[in-house]
Amino acid sequence: MEQVKKVEEMNYFELIAWLGIGSSHPGGFPATRQNLNILQVKPEEYILDAGCGSGLTACYLAKNSGCRIIGIDINSQMIDKARLRAEQEGVAHLTEFKVADVYNLPYANDFFDLIIAESITVFLDKVKVYREFYRVLKPKGRVADLEMVLLHELPSNLRRQMKDCFGPGTDPLFFEEWLNVLKEAGFQDAEIKNPQALTNKANIIMNELKNDWLLIKDLANKITSTPGLLTRLQKNAGFMKRNLGYFGFGLICGRKPTQTFPEKLGFKERVWKILLRLATRLTLRLKNLKHEYNLN
Ligand SMILES: C[S@@+](CC[C@H](N)C(=O)[O-])C[C@H]1O[C@@H](n2cnc3c(N)ncnc32)[C@H](O)[C@@H]1O
Repeated sequence: MEQVKKVEEMNYFELIAWLGIGSSHPGGFPATRQNLNILQVKPEEYILDAGCGSGLTACYLAKNSGCRIIGIDINSQMIDKARLRAEQEGVAHLTEFKVADVYNLPYANDFFDLIIAESITVFLDKVKVYREFYRVLKPKGRVADLEMVLLHELPSNLRRQMKDCFGPGTDPLFFEEWLNVLKEAGFQDAEIKNPQALTNKANIIMNELKNDWLLIKDLANKITSTPGLLTRLQKNAGFMKRNLGYFGFGLICGRKPTQTFPEKLGFKERVWKILLRLATRLTLRLKNLKHEYNLN
């Protein structure tokens, strides 16, 4: 795969795409396996992996459950790698990979039974992403999003370092905040499954070497031939290692209600819903302002 930019100029997504990291999410592939066990996917379910990266989870799921699965990612390098993986692993007939944006999914309303996502919403506008998930899910459809969670308030200097390593949009929420965002987008039965603290196995890239043949194939070559790559990898890994105690992760789960036409709510429920929406927006806005003006 062509290296289009210098390592120092690549954003986090471009870096992991170029390296072909298969499970670039907290907990790595072991967490994916645990979560898929919990989700009990059925062969007849139609699934979207939103921000699928190089397709490791999608191909594993297709192989192990026989379901049909579409993976989308905004990065075309990731999609090329995912297609290659599907061919090599004999699941091309069950999978389809497409370049697309989670904010604007090229699918009709009520299309999927299940949407899985792993470490993408944390970088984006969460309410907007969940609303788009809601739109393309069938009534009763499930969303299951494995994301980084804050366990303690992150001081502003560490927040700056985190954004420097993983991109300016990186914004992990507390468990409760994640659930509120999901509810705000219209989901019900919101709950966190499989919550975990990050352990010192947080070096995602090094861990993935053990699991992913696509990665092992060329990482060593890239490190020797690309000045700056090792330093960049060590910077990200070092940040996580030093600040493990602040972070956890979990599977943020919800379900689209069966009846999605306007609910007949009583006065109290309507007021409660409006208050909840305002409180979620206000909390996120205040948090962003606090970080913008370094008020931690
Ligand atoms: C941290 S990686 C996780 C990839 C994969 N889910 C995994 O766990 O290995 C985040 C992925 O989200 C993709 N992404 C970022 N913004 C996106 C968007 N607006 N629409 C679709 N994909 C996006 C990136 O290209 C990247 O592949």
